[in-house]
Amino acid sequence: MSADRRQPTADSRPHASTDREVPARFPPSTAAGKGEPAIRVANIARLISASLAHRLRGTRRPLNLMLGLTDRCTGGCAYCAIPARSRPEMSLPQVRRLLAEARAMGCQRLGLWGGEPLCREDLGDIIRHAQDLGLWVTVDTNAHLIPERDDALAGVDHLNISLDGDRAAHDAARGPGSFDRTLRGLVHAVGRHRFWTITVLSKANLDQVDWVLDLARRLRFLTNFQVLHHNDQLGRNDALRPDDRELREVVALLVARKREGAPIASSPRLLQHLLQWPDYARNRGPALAGAPRCLAGALYCNVDVDGRLYPCSLFIDESVAPSVVEQGFAAAFAALEPAPCGVCSATCFTEYNLLFGLDWQTGWNWVRALRR
Ligand SMILES: C[S@@+](CC[C@H](N)C(=O)[O-])C[C@H]1O[C@@H](n2cnc3c(N)ncnc32)[C@H](O)[C@@H]1O
Ligand code: SF4
Ligand code: SF4
Repeated sequence: MSADRRQPTADSRPHASTDREVPARFPPSTAAGKGEPAIRVANIARLISASLAHRLRGTRRPLNLMLGLTDRCTGGCAYCAIPARSRPEMSLPQVRRLLAEARAMGCQRLGLWGGEPLCREDLGDIIRHAQDLGLWVTVDTNAHLIPERDDALAGVDHLNISLDGDRAAHDAARGPGSFDRTLRGLVHAVGRHRFWTITVLSKANLDQVDWVLDLARRLRFLTNFQVLHHNDQLGRNDALRPDDRELREVVALLVARKREGAPIASSPRLLQHLLQWPDYARNRGPALAGAPRCLAGALYCNVDVDGRLYPCSLFIDESVAPSVVEQGFAAAFAALEPAPCGVCSATCFTEYNLLFGLDWQTGWNWVRALRR
């Protein structure tokens, strides 16, 4: 794909009418983030020292805990199988106990996801409890419910909002009517929350990189892009899967846009890793020379909706998973088996592997992105 051919200009965009629904510019005081820095220096210092301890002594610590809160969702994305599951949810007291244990073991960041976390009635209690413990708290969301449930997000440190492109592209992947609901929530978040977007690269939106970047410049947020993964538990859609050449071309465009200074949060090393990924039909594999070593299960982990603990979410229902509800978090973490593979094409996990592997260039990229 040549960037000129596939990336539409502002005038040629098929749904440029969307532009009229987005305020052209926000005054400086209402840029995407709030005033104070998003991540505390103390959290960063502890992340570095625990990563060093792992490198020198092999010490395992759940520095970064991802927690699926619910399978319930307001969306119906064509590449996501999560709403079709309905596992029992951990209760609020069980979540509180998990967070207290994780914090005592060195946890610094809590990443809440689902399903749609805003479907959890007690989301506000969970966020407040985590923050009282000193955790840095992020929420992945489709943004549909942000205006109605903004009280639950009071004080949250950061939102990751899913946005797959303009109305046609977004709705093709994420369901009819989804774009309007997401855009309404995203615009509501501007000036109220620190956030950035996550775009899943699929057949539906390979021409949307510049559209997303243009919106990001206007509303002053950062963007992330991730390769569609294929996983029977979390989501598979072969019709939406771009072929290898298409994906490599769009990732090359991201590398170029990042170099040009476009509002892309992802680190240069992550983008290079994606560009060099050998086969996009495979999400994961054994360790690759030169690729960041997987630290899942050693320095980060994922607790599923029902309390089962995995090294990362790509192994849900695929690997032995001790239960934090039955055993407590400390015992479950001790019993967790090492990462079953060495490398993957997942955007977030690769960034964690680079960061916790003490790749300084990546660390600097993220400090700048999170504190801007
Ligand atoms: C599972 S969702 C949960 C949070 C929320 N419901 C949302 O959509 O943002 C977390 C992220 O995973 C992405 N996702 C879902 N299915 C995927 C797939 N098959 N491949 C890659 N990313 C996927 C979503 O677009 C979203 O950015
Ligand atoms: S990606 Fe998010 S919004 Fe879409 S179906 Fe999955 S959980 Fe729901
Ligand atoms: S390389 Fe690590 S983070 Fe990636 S899928 Fe494998 S275990 Fe999970």
